[in-house]
Amino acid sequence: MSTNIIPLSRPDINRGDISEVARVLKTGMLVQGIEVQKLEKAISGFLLAGNCSAVSSGTAALHLALLALGIKPGDEVIVPALSFIATANVVELVGARCVFVDTHPIFYNIDESLIEKAITKNTKAIIPVHEFGLCANMHEILNISERYKLKVIEDAACALGAKCKNKYAGTFGHFGAFSLHPRKAITSGEGGLLITVDNELDRKIKTLRNHGIDPDSSPINFIMAGFNYRMTDFQASLVLSQFSRFNKILEYRTRLAEIYLNEIKHPGVRLPKSSPDNVHTWQTFHLLLESESERNKLMALLKSKGVLTNYGAQCIPAMQYYKKKYKHEAENEFPNAYKTYKCGLAIPLYDKLKEKQVLFISRIINRYK
Ligand SMILES: Cc1ncc(COP(=O)(O)O)c(C=O)c1O
Repeated sequence: MSTNIIPLSRPDINRGDISEVARVLKTGMLVQGIEVQKLEKAISGFLLAGNCSAVSSGTAALHLALLALGIKPGDEVIVPALSFIATANVVELVGARCVFVDTHPIFYNIDESLIEKAITKNTKAIIPVHEFGLCANMHEILNISERYKLKVIEDAACALGAKCKNKYAGTFGHFGAFSLHPRKAITSGEGGLLITVDNELDRKIKTLRNHGIDPDSSPINFIMAGFNYRMTDFQASLVLSQFSRFNKILEYRTRLAEIYLNEIKHPGVRLPKSSPDNVHTWQTFHLLLESESERNKLMALLKSKGVLTNYGAQCIPAMQYYKKKYKHEAENEFPNAYKTYKCGLAIPLYDKLKEKQVLFISRIINRYK
């Protein structure tokens, strides 16, 4: 890629990270092993979360969580209408039905005031998403889920390190699922982490991710039909190495986000909001334009100056598979999610991005007519 191009995101992999991966590669022990265990211990210690399982992707983490909770055909699962498509795909993959709920116009998370209306006698679980790295209103969501005895799986794919009222995202529900995709603050290429305080559920996850092999028995014992959703040891060593500077990474991302928040002053561009109760990871810095054509114009202008951007997230009920199956009129039924999907723009934010590049991008946006 030309040095003049500013990508949307770029993983920060330094020499130390590479030598850690090389060290593990040289041992010849490549599949799930001691490095995976070390990563799980580091993450559960950081989040004060009880148990962690490293898996092959954030999607695998969500899929395993639904399976371990016994979500099955005939069940309904509440999901926000705005998210990355994987949040809903996993519900379909276990044969349950998605019940979509609109999102907040400003915070982009599920609108907790609409959840109760979506609950039926078949509702078994809710998957709040911490959209773009901002924790959903978990205190209210837990109030509702306790009242209706629903399971809660937090889709914290973008939210490792996010907090709400001093508690980490991913640690509120029965499960918290994180992604380690290269657009995230730390990455294993593909990878995911699944958190739970429940030892029995954790044991199920560790069995399901590894062909149904009982994690506690020797000799080998196959106790259920499982997947191969494992992470490799060299991937785990890459994440562990990056994780040693994780707080610095988050601090720097916050600094860049603050520059955008101070510098972008355009009446047609709505900036993202956090709240004083929250620590935002700024996994995505998301702008909202007044219309789809304005969004596309700004996107094209930025591209002409070498700045690459992308849409923010999908309005899932408007995507082809979901539109055909559920037949929602997404624009009317989920107006906030639909508008965010049509008018949203993710602009570059990653820890190799320089402050002067953030100023440059802000200036282009401010001068946009
Ligand atoms: C909200 C959300 N959920 C789930 C996923 C899936 O994670 P993965 O790509 O690791 O499978 C992503 C990926 O970015 C995401 O943003």
